[in-house]
Amino acid sequence: MEKYLINPNRKMSKISKDIYGNFSEHLGRCIYEGLFVGEDSDIPNVKGMRKDVVDALKEMGLPVLRWPGGCFADEYHWMDGIGPLENRKKMINTHWGGVIEDNSFGTHEFFELCDQVGCDAYITGNVGSGSVREMSEWVEYITFGGKSPMADLRRQNGRENPWKIKYFAVGNENWGCGGNMRPEFYADNYRRYQTFVRNYEGNDRIYKVACGPNGEDYNWTEELMKHAKNHMDGLALHYYTVTGDWGHKGSATEFTHEEYYKCLRKAYHIEEIITRHLEIMNRYDPSKRVDLVIDEWGTWHDVEPGTNQGFLYQQNTMRDAVVAAINLNIFNKHSDRIRMCNIAQTVNVLQSVALTDGAEMVLTPTYWVFRMFKDHQENTLVDSYITTEKKGTESDKLPQLIESASMDENGVIYSTLTNTSASEVAEIRCQVADSAVKSVRAEILTGEIDAYNSFDSKNNVHTEEFTSFNMTADGFEAALPACSIVKFIIER
Ligand code: AHR
Repeated sequence: MEKYLINPNRKMSKISKDIYGNFSEHLGRCIYEGLFVGEDSDIPNVKGMRKDVVDALKEMGLPVLRWPGGCFADEYHWMDGIGPLENRKKMINTHWGGVIEDNSFGTHEFFELCDQVGCDAYITGNVGSGSVREMSEWVEYITFGGKSPMADLRRQNGRENPWKIKYFAVGNENWGCGGNMRPEFYADNYRRYQTFVRNYEGNDRIYKVACGPNGEDYNWTEELMKHAKNHMDGLALHYYTVTGDWGHKGSATEFTHEEYYKCLRKAYHIEEIITRHLEIMNRYDPSKRVDLVIDEWGTWHDVEPGTNQGFLYQQNTMRDAVVAAINLNIFNKHSDRIRMCNIAQTVNVLQSVALTDGAEMVLTPTYWVFRMFKDHQENTLVDSYITTEKKGTESDKLPQLIESASMDENGVIYSTLTNTSASEVAEIRCQVADSAVKSVRAEILTGEIDAYNSFDSKNNVHTEEFTSFNMTADGFEAALPACSIVKFIIER
């Protein structure tokens, strides 16, 4: 029996709701078909936004959405996506399948989507192929309430009031698709571009995000912190969980136990990556003013057989759900330094929360994890610890149990645990320090490691009430099934 200790007396940090963010790019069927179908579509929509997907995202408590990319952001020219539809420029989406982008989803549509979902906006500007002026004018167009050329253009396009940009990133992956820059060169460019990302009166201060490292590129973090730390609010790390290698990533649905553990071990590796980047950041910024942002994370498998290689469409199993739970628990534990995270991507691309096929929509196991974990948003992380062994295969082991616990303003505790084992039940005894427990409720997501929701069987994997536990005076005892994610709600 493993010991699980939760100490609500030790309040650690506030869990920013934006840790539960998503990312949406003009890539494959994410924006078009996935989020936006246009007003003339037969698919039920409100001002062109798919009603089913918007409702699901609302229900999931999506706090913030990143747009328009990704690699796409550094070849996106925002002026192509405003004004009368018939005048919008068509372009080639060179990164993603070479398809024609008709720009029918642009700035006004993105803010309409955010309004419908009830989430904040995170915009990525174009450094790689755009000018300082272009970036500066986009911010003016969106956020300036007074009279100016860009604000007047916005009004001419039908929007009187400015919108709010909560987060603005100065470029994306500028070490790669965003311009193949060296860190010193990007740091100087970051300093220059961000100078003209203005804060206009009446708007909240824009939180500026600098392009951060690719996974274990610690040198990038070192250089960025050395040369640009005073000009940024957050530094954005990207880390994808790839089971095989980039040439043979592995199937999303057909994998062995060995590949299951390999995938989870690689997901868990983010703990070390975060810790090491934070060590560097703390050295340059001992007051810890600059946050870590993780604006692309999740599994990246081979595309579904028969689909466009450039569209990155993949299915999503219980293995992905466990990956999501591992990541989100780790992000919670680092919430003193992590401000925002955005899983890649929202719909139909990589580790999506929803998949669509025409008018049909399927919610993925990852969706259910986000929905379970939404209770943590804006709670206080409390100290917690679980005894656990590393399990898996000879070459790929990770802790069997990974958890985090938070407390809301009424003292209610929310604990989310994942049993990463493919085959073994985990017995735990939870004790909440200095507490007489009044009630415990629980919810579970579990299934075979390769179980998923398809368009023929949409409800194969979903959350259910969990009752296999006994309440004790100061906690509970439970047996967590193999490959499961369980949330306990503890009232004291
Ligand atoms: O999410 C898909 C791509 O992965 C993004 O466009 C890019 O930023 C990253 O390499």
